[in-house]
Amino acid sequence: MSKIKPSKGAPYARILGVGGYRPTRVVPNEVILETIDSSDEWIRSRSGIETRHWASPEETVAAMSVEASGKAIADAGIDAEQIGAVVVSTVSHFSQTPAVATEIADRLGTNKAAAFDISAGCAGFGYGLTLAKGMIVEGSAEYVLVIGVERLSDLTDLEDRATAFLFGDGAGAVVVGPSQEPAIGPTVWGSEGDKAETIKQTVPWDRFRIGDLSELPLDSAGNVKFPAITQEGQAVFRWAVFEMAKVAQQALDAAGISPDDLDVFIPHQANVRIIDSMVKTLKLPEHVTVARDIRTTGNTSAASIPLAMERLLATGEAKSGDTALVIGFGAGLVYAATVVTLP
Ligand SMILES: CC(C)(COP(=O)(O)OP(=O)(O)OC[C@H]1O[C@@H](n2cnc3c(N)ncnc32)[C@H](O)[C@@H]1OP(=O)(O)O)[C@@H](O)C(=O)NCCC(=O)NCCS
Repeated sequence: MSKIKPSKGAPYARILGVGGYRPTRVVPNEVILETIDSSDEWIRSRSGIETRHWASPEETVAAMSVEASGKAIADAGIDAEQIGAVVVSTVSHFSQTPAVATEIADRLGTNKAAAFDISAGCAGFGYGLTLAKGMIVEGSAEYVLVIGVERLSDLTDLEDRATAFLFGDGAGAVVVGPSQEPAIGPTVWGSEGDKAETIKQTVPWDRFRIGDLSELPLDSAGNVKFPAITQEGQAVFRWAVFEMAKVAQQALDAAGISPDDLDVFIPHQANVRIIDSMVKTLKLPEHVTVARDIRTTGNTSAASIPLAMERLLATGEAKSGDTALVIGFGAGLVYAATVVTLP
């Protein structure tokens, strides 16, 4: 017989507030065309992207996160001091340690909230949301801040035709807190490490130790290239189109939601053709609002779902209380899908 008292959490969890931050600089396709042989028409028709935002040196991972989080906290109507944990999903924070989450927790004025980073690529928001829900129901935090933030412009090889146009920078944040009714469904998630080679960093950091610069990729000026994200576009595209629609369907089934019950679909913003294909495969009815934030935001990895959520609510295309299917997928390969009630 265990001597440990049962923990006292909330019966359920829900997203209470959302906030986003997009860097000031808007980068149109014309800028991308300065370094790759392509066209505005090709980029728009093959990816859906028209513009993206690139961060300035001052728009750091921490700074963008603090901006987005401040809005999410205000939207939730709580004080920063009430936050018990800060979970930051990112692959573009360049200090190995400490986690950027601790700096963000401090700058926001939380009362020494637990804080840590997670690395789950473009599924990072769903992974963070799942952890937050667990903490709230289990009772280790009343309110959890989940942040997806990236400066992917730092990890983009502007001479790589396959990726130069894809990525953008930004931060999205949500406050998750207690609920008297289910408002975050079961998460359908997983990983397929056998496909790890399809999206990866060109060169691991340890190759940059002094004396080990041989055989590293060079740019057109002959300088060693900084590591970047590289991908096998077609392989990832096929996987996303065929496998992720199934995962999205499983998340609907797990939540007991039919496509007719759904108000909003917020998939990871990787390619507008992937989004359109999923809408078709899932047979989503006309009334379902579909996030296509990629057009002006590009692919911001872990930030893409909360940024798209914030924009749909800000423009009135979605409203508080709507039932939304969210699905993230990317490097790992990893994925996470769940149905949520919008804040
Ligand atoms: C990257 C992506 C937009 C490329 O689109 P695609 O239709 O698959 O393009 P392909 O790589 O098959 O190339 C098609 C043709 O366009 C050409 N091409 C490739 N990049 C180009 C570019 N930037 N501009 C112009 N032409 C280009 C290719 O050379 C090829 O020409 P060919 O038919 O003469 O050989 C697409 O594969 C994609 O979105 N993949 C998944 C992205 C993703 O989800 N990533 C991350 C998950 S988080």
